[in-house]
Amino acid sequence: MDDDTPDEVIAELKSRPIGGWGVAQIAAGTGLAVYAMWAGILQPGFQKVPLKLQVPYIPASRAQVQNVMTLLRGRQGGLVDLGSGDGRIVLEAHQHGFIPAVGYELNPWLVRLARFYAWRAGHHGKVSYRREDLWKVDLTKCKNVTVFLAPSVLSLLQEKLEAELPDDALVVAGRFPFPDWKPCIIEGHGVDRAWAYSVQEQRQHTVNKNNLTATESFTVN
Ligand SMILES: C[S@@+](CC[C@H](N)C(=O)[O-])C[C@H]1O[C@@H](n2cnc3c(N)ncnc32)[C@H](O)[C@@H]1O
Repeated sequence: MDDDTPDEVIAELKSRPIGGWGVAQIAAGTGLAVYAMWAGILQPGFQKVPLKLQVPYIPASRAQVQNVMTLLRGRQGGLVDLGSGDGRIVLEAHQHGFIPAVGYELNPWLVRLARFYAWRAGHHGKVSYRREDLWKVDLTKCKNVTVFLAPSVLSLLQEKLEAELPDDALVVAGRFPFPDWKPCIIEGHGVDRAWAYSVQEQRQHTVNKNNLTATESFTVN
C-alpha cells in the first residue's frame, strides 16, 4: 500500500493533464447525472402532459410570495395554487387565513416535499396538496387563485379561468403576467412582481373587445 498523504494525492491529480478521454468521461457523467435528475425527480407525472404545456419547477422567491399575499389582502375563503411546487404559497395562504388552502401539483416528489414542509411547520392536515393536472381541476367554486407558470401556458390558462371561475374570483399571477388580461393591481418589481386580476373585469374586457371587433368587421364590410 502507498503511504501518500491526501495532500500528495491531490497534488498528483492536479498535475495530471486531462486528456480527450477524460473530458469525454466527465461530459458523459455530467450528462447522465442531469438526465437522471430530470427523469427521476423533475419529470415524473408529466408523461401525459403535452410538451408545450410542461412548466419546470422554480420556487417563488420570498419577496414574490409576499407580493402575492399583499395582493390577496382583504380576500376571504379558499385559495388554490395551480402548480404548487413545494407548497410555499399554499402554506403562506393558510397562515393568512385562507381556508381551505389547496395546491395542485403533478410532480409527486414536490407533493411529498410540500406535505413535509407543512408537517414541519405544524400545519399538517390543515393544508392540502393534491397530485393532479391543473388543466383537469374544476375551478367553478374557486374564489382565490394563484399561479406562477410560464408565459406560453398562461395564454391558454386565461381561457380556462375565464370560462370556469365565478365572477367575484381574484387571480394573482407571480413573475409572469397574463398576456391578454388587464391587472387591477400590480405589486413589487422585477422578477418578484405579481399581478392581480378581477375575473369580472376580464369578462367585461372580453365582451368589449368582441363588440369592437364585430363593429370593425361590420364597418369594413
Ligand atoms: C414555476 S413552478 C411554481 C411553484 C410554486 N407555485 C411557487 O410559486 O413556488 C410551476 C410548478 O407547476 C407545476 N406544474 C406544471 N404543469 C402542471 C400541471 N399541468 N399540473 C400541475 N402542476 C403543474 C410544476 O411541476 C412546477 O412545480
